[in-house]
Amino acid sequence: MSTSRQTRQVYIETYGCQMNVADSEVVGGILKTSGYSLTEDLAGADVVLVNTCAIRENAEQRIYGRIGLFGTYKRRNPGMLIGVLGCMAERLRLSLLEDDLVDLVVGPDEYRKLPGLMERALEGEQGIAVRLSRVENYDDITPLRTDGVCAWLSVMRGCDKFCTFCVVPFTRGRERSRSVESIVREVVDLSSQGLKEVTLLGQNVNSFRDGERDFADLMQEVAAVDRTMRIRFTTSHPQDMSGRLIDVIAGEENICNYVHLPVQSGSDRILGLMNRTYTVDHYRRLIGRIRETIPGVAVSTDIISGFPTETEDDHRMTVDLLTEIRFDGAFTFKYSARERTKAWEMEDNIPEEEKGKRVWEITELQHAIALEQNRNLIGTAVRVLVEGPSRKSPYEYTGRTETSRTVVFPHADEQPGEYAEIRIDRANSATLFGRRTGDVSGAAPQSLRESAA
Ligand code: 5AD
Ligand code: SF4
Repeated sequence: MSTSRQTRQVYIETYGCQMNVADSEVVGGILKTSGYSLTEDLAGADVVLVNTCAIRENAEQRIYGRIGLFGTYKRRNPGMLIGVLGCMAERLRLSLLEDDLVDLVVGPDEYRKLPGLMERALEGEQGIAVRLSRVENYDDITPLRTDGVCAWLSVMRGCDKFCTFCVVPFTRGRERSRSVESIVREVVDLSSQGLKEVTLLGQNVNSFRDGERDFADLMQEVAAVDRTMRIRFTTSHPQDMSGRLIDVIAGEENICNYVHLPVQSGSDRILGLMNRTYTVDHYRRLIGRIRETIPGVAVSTDIISGFPTETEDDHRMTVDLLTEIRFDGAFTFKYSARERTKAWEMEDNIPEEEKGKRVWEITELQHAIALEQNRNLIGTAVRVLVEGPSRKSPYEYTGRTETSRTVVFPHADEQPGEYAEIRIDRANSATLFGRRTGDVSGAAPQSLRESAA
């Protein structure tokens, strides 16, 4: 094990949503300033931190499995520290320290305490910090980013919606937003470093507020920083999807025409039990307005199957809604009862097998829709932001369209961060395949748009 603090190596592994990815970069920033360095080598690490997710039971089970594996490294290197960060740390608190493998437990609002806690833990003292804050937003911390093309940028934290199934208000606390100025400053910095895509993040990003300025105002200011930079955002609640925000997405050429808008269920009765605060009809009209206002927009959603009391009829309504709306993407989850939530009090009465069947049916339907939509793009040319080599082959590169479709093409001279036009000749439900039609570009504003040539 290394002895001086300057050479202490920290390995960070991240689970869960993009907020956690952004938070791990904040942790990286804090640790680097305190003289630690990050490593990708688990076996050689002095400190192993796992940033965790508590949204569903199976997310937690997976993390227990990882902690067990870290234990095998720790037995070989007894000085190694293991720290649990994030939502599971917040939820399970002291009980995590009962496991001898775990030295540190740090919740999402306490990352500034990490260097101090790590120092003491290296001297043998277990540490815990899990207080939630009404103000912490890490406004002044420069995240340690590794990707040179796309950046996550967290603009607000926490959630005040209290959907009855969701543990997030308990693990991440109350809503709070950063200042527009600090966000714009960070985007200016990213632009000067050559990054080409920024995704504004929040559990409930469109309820962002800084004094008189709302999320639509923020998006406008961020989009104006660098017109060659794409702007995305996630995740939104239908209640805060204002007409003005839709107009801003349509009006600012470099804001991507892509909206992720979780509906959760196609049954008004279930939406009521979930405390989602909208009806299916309201949601339907919202999607209609988004599609009318933003030409070529892609919309995706989240669905929960098997919420307490969900009948076959309720499930049918969800299937019908997906058939009607034809989302570009849908993430479907089996309902998982979470302690402290309102739904925890309801009987989790849908058998796991039935939940699985419902998820399967929705997933199959969505695959068929996505396949059809992707096949419709065969023969057209799409603009992609080049990201780098594909996972399967160094001779192929991948990029994403404005609508977040992944495109794979033979690599010639494109560099990550350039825009290229690809003619699509093949598609499956997840990926488009094609070839370059012309030169790559640093992207004039209008070239960000997908062309349907
Ligand atoms: N069980 C299953 N899915 C859940 N989600 C949130 N809480 C739960 C839960 N208890 C899903 C919702 C949300 C997405 C991020 O995770 O669909 O939109
Ligand atoms: Fe959870 Fe609902 Fe808040 Fe999303 S809006 S984080 S689902 S409570």
